Amino acid sequence: MRIVRTRSGHPVEVRAAEPADAPALLAYFQRVGAESPHLTFGAEGVELTEAEEHAYIARTRNLENVLFLVAVMGGELVGSLTFTGGPRPRNRHTGEFGVSVAQPYWGEGVGRALVEEMLEWAVAGGIIRKIDLRVRTDNARAIALYERLGFTVEGRMTRTLLTDGRFHDSFLMGRQVDPVP
Ligand SMILES: CC(C)(COP(=O)(O)OP(=O)(O)OC[C@H]1O[C@@H](n2cnc3c(N)ncnc32)[C@H](O)[C@@H]1OP(=O)(O)O)[C@@H](O)C(=O)NCCC(=O)NCCS
Repeated sequence: MRIVRTRSGHPVEVRAAEPADAPALLAYFQRVGAESPHLTFGAEGVELTEAEEHAYIARTRNLENVLFLVAVMGGELVGSLTFTGGPRPRNRHTGEFGVSVAQPYWGEGVGRALVEEMLEWAVAGGIIRKIDLRVRTDNARAIALYERLGFTVEGRMTRTLLTDGRFHDSFLMGRQVDPVP
């Protein structure tokens, strides 16, 4: 858990999601899905019931290579990040993450705080050695953030998303994680 200050000076708590966050998270996903064309879901949000989301969060808290973070400002959920590592011995050291921030708070440093918290968690845990993500090729804000935090483009996939009747390509980006000597 960390408390960071946004660029405009407001404290934001970045912490592991708790099962009790389930209803707020489902509402949050519907909100950010409506606000951004860059996520894999729209205004419908994610396809989980409150009970399923509750159970999912409870399960992730016990897994060493899964991380579910939330960013909370003044009691309001304003951001989230999920990293999911592989389920098998041969791929448990690697996984993909997704991050989002509610639109009124873009550019305030919340996304950066979430990704930095994940990177610290990965280094400290010693299990994760590679972190991947997919990002729409026209998502300049997100790409700039990832590049500043050490991610590089490793490939390009075509037609990964369909919004407003148009296909969009995504970059595959990745960053290796090395244990602190
Ligand atoms: C992408 C996202 C998570 C970033 O979160 P954020 O809180 O706005 O990010 P931050 O404020 O921490 O950092 C954004 C960085 O991009 C820079 N930036 C902002 N707009 C930019 C643009 N159009 N082009 C390039 N860089 C830009 C900012 O200056 C900042 O860099 P800095 O920290 O060095 O100043 C957020 O905008 C979001 O949720 N977008 C919608 C969903 C999404 O796209 N998720 C990612 C899917 S892969």
